[in-house]
Amino acid sequence: MATGSDRIAVEVCKGVNGLDKVVLREARGRSVEVYLYGAHVTSWKNDNGEELLFLSNKAIFKPPKAIRGGIPICFPQFASHGSLEQHGFARNRLWSIDNDPPPFPVVSTSRTFIDLILRPTEDDLKIWPHSFEFRLRVALGPGGDLMLTSRIRNTNTDGKPFSFTFAYHTYFSVSDISEVRVEGLETLDYLDNLQNKERFTEQGDAITFESEFDKIYLSTPTKIAILDHEKKQTFVLRKDGLPDAVVWNPWDKKAKAMPDFGDDEYKHMLCVEAAAVEKPITLKPGEEWKGRLELSAVPSSYCSGQLDPRRVLGS
Ligand code: BG6
Repeated sequence: MATGSDRIAVEVCKGVNGLDKVVLREARGRSVEVYLYGAHVTSWKNDNGEELLFLSNKAIFKPPKAIRGGIPICFPQFASHGSLEQHGFARNRLWSIDNDPPPFPVVSTSRTFIDLILRPTEDDLKIWPHSFEFRLRVALGPGGDLMLTSRIRNTNTDGKPFSFTFAYHTYFSVSDISEVRVEGLETLDYLDNLQNKERFTEQGDAITFESEFDKIYLSTPTKIAILDHEKKQTFVLRKDGLPDAVVWNPWDKKAKAMPDFGDDEYKHMLCVEAAAVEKPITLKPGEEWKGRLELSAVPSSYCSGQLDPRRVLGS
């Protein structure tokens, strides 16, 4: 079955275990796959049909387990910052296709997109007593960029505001974690999840990885880069409405403890998550919040041991 304005570019079909998924296709090998289960993007491919996101070989595609890899949506709670289950419930609910979403103020540059919606069930209201509409647009840009726009509206009729934390928990595929560096977070304050969420300040150098890493960077710039030396590829994240950035790699010990993650897979993934964690977002009834993430993969400026951050972050 095809849907949307372009019947070839947007296809609804069955994925693993018969779960519904939507495939977006653009010129050449570019594509994106998103499951209705969790509104979970599981695949993003470039011109050559190469996968850019990490998805575990042991990922479990069975509710209520969240899919390990891709882009889980953390809402209404990031991690254990509250009384709900880890990372909230949006990532393990069945979303619907939204055929008639309210218009966006700015006309989209992409014709290849799908709109999904999540509203709370009676059971959800028992654990989080707030009525909301969460609309997610997943779009594949003409240049192969992956664009995610979340619009969350308070539809409470009891006059009550609600607060939430949020993250696009993106798992990037990398050639070798020890060859990767993240730029754009130097000198920022962060909360270290491995040290009781204590606050520290990052030193001047780009971030590299040689052991377990789990930090929430605060008040981050709108642009962050992940440089993969071996692949000579750079991921650029552009974000809006999402001040924080979580950087996570479980490393070997934690990898072994996760049943849906291969023992050595930590070497080939890195999570850099555009997020709103430190200061929860509060919405009054009728108010809407918007959080946007744009991902692109570009050839790296890395050349014989020299990186020029200005070329990576300046454009
Ligand atoms: C990260 C957190 O965002 O998600 C980590 O900072 C956590 O602390 C990781 O371990 C994975 O969480 P989960 O629930 O998907 O296993």
